[in-house]
Amino acid sequence: MGTVRNADEDVVIKASLISKYFPGVTALDNVDFEVCKGETHALVGENGAGKSTLMKILYREYSEDAGSLYIDGRNAKGMGIPQVRNLGLSLIHQDLNLVPMFTVAHNVCMGLEPVNKLGFIDRKELKQKAAPYLKEISSDIDLDAKVEELSISQQQLVTVARALVAHPRFLILDEPTARLDQKSTEALFDFLDRCKEKGITIIYISHRLEEIYRICDRITVLRDGAKILTAPVQELTQTELVKHMVGRELKQQVPKEESSIGEVVLSVRNLNPVAKAKDISFDLHSGEILGIVGSIGAGKSEVARAIFGADRKKSGGIRMGGKALKIRGPRDAIDAGIALVPEERSKQGLVTTESIRKNMTLAALGKKFCAGGFWIKQRKEKEAVEKSIKDFKLATPSPEQEARLLSGGTQQKVVIGKWLLSDSKIYIFDEPTKGIDVGGKHDIYKMIVDLARNGAGVIFISNELDEVLALCDRTLVMFNGRLVREVINKGTTKDELLFYVMGGKDNGSKNR
Ligand SMILES: Nc1ncnc2c1ncn2[C@@H]1O[C@H](COP(=O)(O)OP(=O)(O)OP(=O)(O)O)[C@@H](O)[C@H]1O
Ligand SMILES: [Mg+2]
Repeated sequence: MGTVRNADEDVVIKASLISKYFPGVTALDNVDFEVCKGETHALVGENGAGKSTLMKILYREYSEDAGSLYIDGRNAKGMGIPQVRNLGLSLIHQDLNLVPMFTVAHNVCMGLEPVNKLGFIDRKELKQKAAPYLKEISSDIDLDAKVEELSISQQQLVTVARALVAHPRFLILDEPTARLDQKSTEALFDFLDRCKEKGITIIYISHRLEEIYRICDRITVLRDGAKILTAPVQELTQTELVKHMVGRELKQQVPKEESSIGEVVLSVRNLNPVAKAKDISFDLHSGEILGIVGSIGAGKSEVARAIFGADRKKSGGIRMGGKALKIRGPRDAIDAGIALVPEERSKQGLVTTESIRKNMTLAALGKKFCAGGFWIKQRKEKEAVEKSIKDFKLATPSPEQEARLLSGGTQQKVVIGKWLLSDSKIYIFDEPTKGIDVGGKHDIYKMIVDLARNGAGVIFISNELDEVLALCDRTLVMFNGRLVREVINKGTTKDELLFYVMGGKDNGSKNR
């Protein structure tokens, strides 16, 4: 951890009294934000607090409605993105902003493609140009691969490589680890260590507090668009930090209760999804929260998608309540009462140009809100959506707000809310707390516990072993596409679980 300096000459980014308004929303309210040379500065706050907006103002993607901004001693008023990039400022956005059909090399050098004499993109030179940037962050991504062929974790690493093209002296990372698996997270931290050694100033946004304590020197907390404080990391405990972020004390992060587990609601036998996973068999009971863990690439999402019919499966049977199910696509799964909250929500679960209300009621349409005439449907729909907005504390001026205008975490909450309105019997959550703030995580856990208490069967896929241990009753461990282990959570430690996730085997194991 670096030393903390506060002397004025060290301040390289100085934003004073910044305000930013969107229709019906004060995204930033007189915010002061100062970053010192060479430090790693964390920016934290709940979903919708204004973090991304402030960063887009630094990057001149948005202009402020009031206030002033100095970067490296220069007044940034009137500057655009190219000018601040010339000053050495680079922003890795919260959303990936990649072109899926283009190659990795092309995405890294987007906008700076070398052309040959005929005016076509010079593929060879493009590759040569991109290679050193990609190498900084990853050794196993193929420059010729199309971005859509990569895992989400790899795609995120490509955005880091792309930011390096500007040779940044100030590097802003907006929730980079929300999409990264364990291995890539470590690669990112090694990379950030090298950046620090080179004296690069870093602004780091994350909802994972342990990361902030690991890599950051100082923290600034935003709440509802206002700055709450800036302090050296060592001076704040995690509990204090959370209190500043949410404005209240959170007693218990995972509100788990003893659940009463009933009969089998879902039986999966010898399921072979087209990709990755092999020969998966397990049962899910009513009232049960069943965890599935395993490192990235272990095949967890593939199992979820095959059950839901989002991907085709090669073979295998799925029974619900004793009856064999024929699932040819998501519609069949939804009709049978299966809900899937997918992993990459902004792409797979959200119509970004539609309102919150439309997005939320999409999954339930035809089931819940069409019972009576048109008016009944509209009223019921409106009430349900308003309740969800309140329960979920969604940062939005109205249910009619277009989804694309919401903060990253708020978008995730909308998709989760949409499935919660669907009245399903089985819920599959694929990494539901990615990118969700501490208070929001608590709310999601609570809703999942309530679903189970009301008799639903829940499958909870996550990389965060702590939350799986605390929330689930039983956990399946996947390794290399297979289910290798089943544990009862009560009495299992994180170290044991991690051991199995890493492929460890013990004597007398229940390996299947
Ligand atoms: N282009 C926009 N149009 C309208 N409202 C916007 C726009 N961008 C952001 N907002 C609103 O401004 C507020 C702050 O959003 P911002 O994206 O900065 O939050 P955040 O702190 O980054 O949250 P998260 O942790 O969810 O990413 C939110 O209420 C959001 O809905
Ligand atoms: Mg954000």
